[in-house]
Amino acid sequence: MLREWSDIYSIGIEEIDRQHQGFFAASHRLYEAILDREAKTAVIDAVAFMRAYAETHFSTEEDFMRRHDYPDLDVHVRQHVAFMRRLDALENDLRTFGPGQELADRALEMTQDWLIDHIADEDVLYALHVKAGELGDHPAGHREQPTIGDR
Ligand SMILES: [Fe+2]
Repeated sequence: MLREWSDIYSIGIEEIDRQHQGFFAASHRLYEAILDREAKTAVIDAVAFMRAYAETHFSTEEDFMRRHDYPDLDVHVRQHVAFMRRLDALENDLRTFGPGQELADRALEMTQDWLIDHIADEDVLYALHVKAGELGDHPAGHREQPTIGDR
C-alpha cells in the first residue's frame, strides 16, 4: 500500500528527514513505473534513480554517524548494503520477467516499507545517540565527567 510521508517518520534531523521524504518519492515513482508497465527503459531508469537516491542518502547517514562516533555504525551499514543487494536482485528480475503487479508490490515492500521499518528500528538509534551527545549524556560524556573523589 502506498503511504504518504508523515511526521511520525521524522527523526528530528532536518537534512535526513528531507532525504527520507525524497526516498519515499523515489520508491513511489519506482512502484508506479513497474505497475504501469511503462517501457522497459523507463522502469530501469526508475530503478537507477532509486539506486542513486539510496546511495546518496546512505552515504549522508554514514558520514553523519561517523562524525558523531556512533558505536553501531557497522550494523547499520550492513543494512544499507543488504538493501542495495535486494535492489540489484529486483533489477535482475525486472529485466528477466518484465514489469507487473508482483514485482511492483515487491519493489514497494522493499523500498517504502523497508524505509519505514529501518527508520523505526535503526535511524532513531543514531538520532538518540546524537541528541544524548548534545546533552552531554552519552557514555563518552559520562567518562569525561569528574567524579566526586577527583575534586
Ligand atoms: Fe539508515
